[in-house]
Amino acid sequence: DGHRVRPATNEEVIGVKPFLRVLAGETLERPPVWLMRQAGRYLPEYRQIRSQANGFLDMCYTPERAAEVTLQPIRRYGFDAAILFSDILVVPDALGQEVTFVEGEGPKLDPIRDSAGLSALSTNWIRQRLEPVFETIERVKPELPEDVAFIGFAGSPWTVATYMVEGQGSRDYAKVKEWAYRDPAGFGRLMDLLVEGTSDYLIAQIDAGVEAIQLFDTWASVLPEEKFDDLVIEPTRRIVQAVRGVHPDIPIIGFPRGAGPSYPKYLERTGVTALGLDTTVPVDWAAKTLQPHAPVQGNLDPHHLLFGGDGLKQSAERIVKGLSNGPHIFNLGHGIIKETPPEHVSELLSYIRYS
Ligand code: CP3
Repeated sequence: DGHRVRPATNEEVIGVKPFLRVLAGETLERPPVWLMRQAGRYLPEYRQIRSQANGFLDMCYTPERAAEVTLQPIRRYGFDAAILFSDILVVPDALGQEVTFVEGEGPKLDPIRDSAGLSALSTNWIRQRLEPVFETIERVKPELPEDVAFIGFAGSPWTVATYMVEGQGSRDYAKVKEWAYRDPAGFGRLMDLLVEGTSDYLIAQIDAGVEAIQLFDTWASVLPEEKFDDLVIEPTRRIVQAVRGVHPDIPIIGFPRGAGPSYPKYLERTGVTALGLDTTVPVDWAAKTLQPHAPVQGNLDPHHLLFGGDGLKQSAERIVKGLSNGPHIFNLGHGIIKETPPEHVSELLSYIRYS
């Protein structure tokens, strides 16, 4: 209609959003900041919305609520990016596996232990079942300040598979490893389903309006090297390729938590745009080895944010200084702990932005 301004070009949008500028390779004077799990139980306004929902998944699938909690940390703190409020386990749910979140215990899934269990799953329902997620994105997008970027996400196939096979969080990953090691072809079919479903899901998120993607591979840390190649790098590479086939310019942040010395080959072989660093990655090593090739994001220990005080300041300072000669997005090395006092987040932000 006559009142609409010309849609901004890609370059104009990147230009005003520090988060996207860093992903495009710029080194800024101050790193843009967002925090993994920035929407969540440490915020009283989140707990308020959460108490009205009929369980956690209901909240993820109610666009009005999911949009509201996505925006809460942006209003309170003015982060440089909003991350879609959802969960990595909506993908198994949409593939046809039974997923529930038990209060105080975390996710429970009806476990799939072998090839026979795959017959219940299909990628055909992804777009339809996850429609509320795309609607959430459409609601959030116009509410974001013009300098705030919007991140979509999914779990990487290996991490999502650990929950699908174990049926819950795990200490030793015995069942998923048993299947993956004893029957690589059968387990490969589960990974194929996840690659296909996740690619489709991410493409639809981008169609709906997110401007960058993060792939969470939380349990990359538990695999030996040769399995890391097959189960972390290869499925991630295929997703990156499929998503870029439709959206060639979308920035993708890979977060292979605990990958250690495998970070460089993960970067090289998957083709992700940027690397999320977990808490254990030494910043001087990252500055020397990773940053010349890709922007990095991270990696404050969330326990520093929990405890606050001088430890928080000193650790944040080490990270900011250590990564200041290349493209860096400040973040935690893992998600916010739910007991974190909200004031500690304000202190961290004012330190990063104004000190
Ligand atoms: O970062 C954000 O603010 C966006 C939302 C988001 C959530 N989960 C919301 C959530 C994101 C990006 C995730 C990713 C996720 N989910 C991962 C990968 C990152 C990581 O933390 O390792 C994993 C492994 C999951 C699976 C999951 N979801 C578990 C194991 C749990 C239970 C543990 C817990 O913290 O309660 C969840 C639940 C969950 N996902 C909550 C939130 C805010 C808490 C649920 C609640 O409010 O009751």
